[in-house]
Amino acid sequence: MNIIRVSDYTSMSTKARDMVIDRISNFSDMVLAIPTGNTPEMLYSLLVDTYKEEKVSFKDVVTFNLDEYVGISPDNPQSYSYYMKEHLLKHIDIRRNYIPDGLADDLERECAEYEDKIREEGGIDLAIMGIGRNGHIGFNEPGTNFESLTHVVELSEDTIKANARFFPKEEEVPRRAITMGIKTIMNAREVLLLASGKEKAEAIKKAVIGEVTEELPASALQRHKHCTFIIDSDAASLLKNW
Ligand code: GLP
Repeated sequence: MNIIRVSDYTSMSTKARDMVIDRISNFSDMVLAIPTGNTPEMLYSLLVDTYKEEKVSFKDVVTFNLDEYVGISPDNPQSYSYYMKEHLLKHIDIRRNYIPDGLADDLERECAEYEDKIREEGGIDLAIMGIGRNGHIGFNEPGTNFESLTHVVELSEDTIKANARFFPKEEEVPRRAITMGIKTIMNAREVLLLASGKEKAEAIKKAVIGEVTEELPASALQRHKHCTFIIDSDAASLLKNW
């Protein structure tokens, strides 16, 4: 695990932008897994700026969303589909993008087909992600089996509370989601995790120096061969002597 410490959110986003552009420029046919949340917002805006300056093209890039809520439509502003279009996809020349369909009649089949699509696209080259306060990645909550592929999850109370800020009322936060599994993420050739802010410090400490355990999903990444964490000084504040 390669840990890059930076001073603040802006430096984290700039460093991540440089890494993503480097991979897109040096490898043809990149397949990215991409996250939602506040953490990657500036990264996306920097990628859009770089595209508008004609310094990068996404015409050979395929994206897969890490996750999506169950039960809300893609045109609902709280859906991850909507988020991704607004923050990134509608602004760039992306070749193709895939987002799990949280309205599918048969959710199990939707999950299996998502895995098929990842395989058909040649697997994920770079999986980018944030981290939840409880150490979740994607929507893989504590207790998720490390062998899991894309699956339906029941969101934890902590995650529902944390995500309530995006909804008019906490009751409106969906209780279920579709997420790539831990194994789907571990199968990516490279992983990039971003974290900013004090509220992520405990999860980062456990993910980096804690025991590798299903109780802290991000700890699985200690076993990934090519994984980088870019973390700002607040998120790294409990790693002082490491
Ligand atoms: C959600 C998403 C995760 C994201 C996490 C942290 O639960 N499913 O993919 O990493 O929130 O979000 P934020 O970056 O807003 O702290």
